[in-house]
Amino acid sequence: MRKVVIAGNWKMNKTLAEASDFMDAVIPKAPGGNTEAIVCAPFVHLPALVEKAKGSNVKVAAQNMHFEESGAYTGEVSPVMLTDIGVTHVVIGHSERREYFAETDESVNQKTKAAFAHGLTPIVCVGETLEQREANETMDVVGNQVKKALAGLSDEQVTQTIVAYEPIWAIGTGKTASSEDANEVCAKTRKVIAEITSQGIADQVVIQYGGSVKPANIDELLAQSDIDGALVGGASLEPESFVQLVEAGT
Ligand code: G3P
Repeated sequence: MRKVVIAGNWKMNKTLAEASDFMDAVIPKAPGGNTEAIVCAPFVHLPALVEKAKGSNVKVAAQNMHFEESGAYTGEVSPVMLTDIGVTHVVIGHSERREYFAETDESVNQKTKAAFAHGLTPIVCVGETLEQREANETMDVVGNQVKKALAGLSDEQVTQTIVAYEPIWAIGTGKTASSEDANEVCAKTRKVIAEITSQGIADQVVIQYGGSVKPANIDELLAQSDIDGALVGGASLEPESFVQLVEAGT
């Protein structure tokens, strides 16, 4: 049985005090068990949040990283730095990184490999634009992104990768893909993973849906056969709604 992973992607939001208050409110209510709760926070908050999360059921993720260990990359943060402070997960290739910061399938692959090389679990984001969906290109685009992101990983690493399917047109727009449509893409994504590995491996991969997920639609999404969690933006910012989302996974 696959675990349920609910990850809150705060994006560029919250002061340190707000982030700390959030953790104080959420940690006592995080259920644990088969449901994993992850907070994806801005870099500057990570050390404090890792400290707060120690011994709790909440894990802390970075929203990005460089793939090199160190060097002349002004403004960047390396995987070594993340593991050094106790971060366990990292979001890779979010559509906002692909759109505004020139991330490519190649850099996503380099970062995914670097995450594993340093003991981090990658949450690899894929998803199509509205134009691509309307042109019936969703699976070509998503399948291709998945294949390129996972290229060169061992089977063991593939099983540990969290794939987040986030249709770009559903992010922050209030438009959620219907749970059936979201599930169809997640199921086909699993098929693509099976083609490049095996069905047994693909069946172990956690595939999240992301895009306007909120307490009102999480149950329906999680009831689908191939949706194993959610990557949540807006609705992860308030402790109450994040806790509701996590509880839905139990
Ligand atoms: O990474 C989460 C995300 O992009 C979805 O954002 O605000 O639509 O839940 P939102």
